[in-house]
Amino acid sequence: MPLDVYNTIIDQRLAELRGDFFPRLQGRDHLTLEIGCGHGHYLTAYAEAHPHEYCVGIDLIADRLERAERKTSRVGRTNVAWVQAEASLLVAALPDESVLRRIFVLFPDPWPKRRHWKNRLIQTGFLDLLAAKSAVGAQLCFRTDHVSYFTYAYETIRSHPLWELDASSVWPFELATVFQQRASAYQSLIAVRKDARSLSAE
Ligand SMILES: C[S@@+](CC[C@H](N)C(=O)[O-])C[C@H]1O[C@@H](n2cnc3c(N)ncnc32)[C@H](O)[C@@H]1O
Repeated sequence: MPLDVYNTIIDQRLAELRGDFFPRLQGRDHLTLEIGCGHGHYLTAYAEAHPHEYCVGIDLIADRLERAERKTSRVGRTNVAWVQAEASLLVAALPDESVLRRIFVLFPDPWPKRRHWKNRLIQTGFLDLLAAKSAVGAQLCFRTDHVSYFTYAYETIRSHPLWELDASSVWPFELATVFQQRASAYQSLIAVRKDARSLSAE
């Protein structure tokens, strides 16, 4: 796709997010984000169990989100919203007053071939973006059944200056996602957003 066409599409999507979606985040001071939420099975149940949090589920695929929306509208759940967006685009464009407190990345696409690892969601640049939009103490909760991706995510997060792996944190909410139900085994990690002021003391 020519670069100018690509840039126009990105600009249109950003304008839509700013016009339609971001106003819904105003005044929400406890944002929980699920990236790659699929049909919204997990976040719907999470939102019900955490009524004081405002939950945002994002995915690339519209019909998955439409199913999620139908499910939550049917039961009248108002503390969850679904939005079709690419994760980096949405996180980078979040308004300044929107602060993430918890982020879930559950069974992300593993991109198993080494030459495709650059497509994995967990990358230093993406962790920079998430850190810039997260409160100190915010949790990044990552789970996968792909052993190589787990090691990759673990090492990428471990070497990031603004995230700290926290082996003592308990997984905040258990409910098997669609991909978890298919997995014979999986691994999880929780990382906590560090206080940047503590870095100079390290
Ligand atoms: C393997 S599925 C897992 C779905 C769900 N989390 C589960 O555990 O059942 C990964 C999902 O992430 C979405 N996805 C992949 N890359 C994404 C990105 N950069 N931004 C937003 N969603 C993404 C895909 O469309 C897909 O629905």
